[in-house]
Amino acid sequence: MKIWFVVPAAGSGRRLGGDIPKQYLALAGKRVVEHTLERLLTLAPAGAVVAVSAGDTLWPTLAISRHPLVRTAAGGAERADSVANALALLAGEAAGDDWVLVHDVARPCVRVADIELLIQRLENSPVGGILAAPVSDTLKRVSATRAIEGTEDRSRLWAAMTPQMFRYGLLTRALAAALDQGSKPTDEAMAVELLGYSPLVVEGHRDNIKITRREDLAIAETILHWQQRQRTTSGVAE
Ligand code: CTP
Ligand code: MG
Repeated sequence: MKIWFVVPAAGSGRRLGGDIPKQYLALAGKRVVEHTLERLLTLAPAGAVVAVSAGDTLWPTLAISRHPLVRTAAGGAERADSVANALALLAGEAAGDDWVLVHDVARPCVRVADIELLIQRLENSPVGGILAAPVSDTLKRVSATRAIEGTEDRSRLWAAMTPQMFRYGLLTRALAAALDQGSKPTDEAMAVELLGYSPLVVEGHRDNIKITRREDLAIAETILHWQQRQRTTSGVAE
């Protein structure tokens, strides 16, 4: 079974702000992108394609951009375009039934053990699926003026995370179809859902946060240190 990683890293980090995109910020002694890629490379994939934006001058200065398993693709206007470009780079090399795991560069705390669980649970599935977690907050539906209109039934709601694991052929078709229709899927599962398939969810740990706002950096740093301590004391959190 061949596994490829695709890492969309062409976002500008508008919600976090600052001078450099969030994937390059320092976090627990390394840059965010280095944490993320080092974890993925632990799984010995066939390759990892990183999509970066055209004007990105920082990426080529990092040693990890020259790692033998790492390739660079051009980013696109939306996340789905970046992922589609990364997949296109593998055309002719990846087989239609190879697995592709798409993982946000902004999720540096993902546990290697959770990725292994995702692969183990899905490797015999016809469609694929995603790491996700049941929603734990009470969810309010609000009006334009922020008045609460109701409370959602959260019993069947899960928050989508990454990696998202699909066959190369199906994912390529799904993204092309979604982009053709003018829909902007915010994750790979959504594109696959639009083709009428039902991807599975595999429960991951909630420490797989996406760094989105500035305060998330402090949370991510705490998580990385905590995971490090767990590893040295019990080997639990990888
Ligand atoms: N991404 C990408 N190409 C884009 C937009 C986003 O590769 N055109 C990537 C980001 O780099 C990130 C992932 O998609 O790894 C999830 O996106 P998000 O967290 O929204 O990051 P940004 O788009 O950078 O942040 P913001 O929306 O706040 O600008
Ligand atoms: Mg974004």
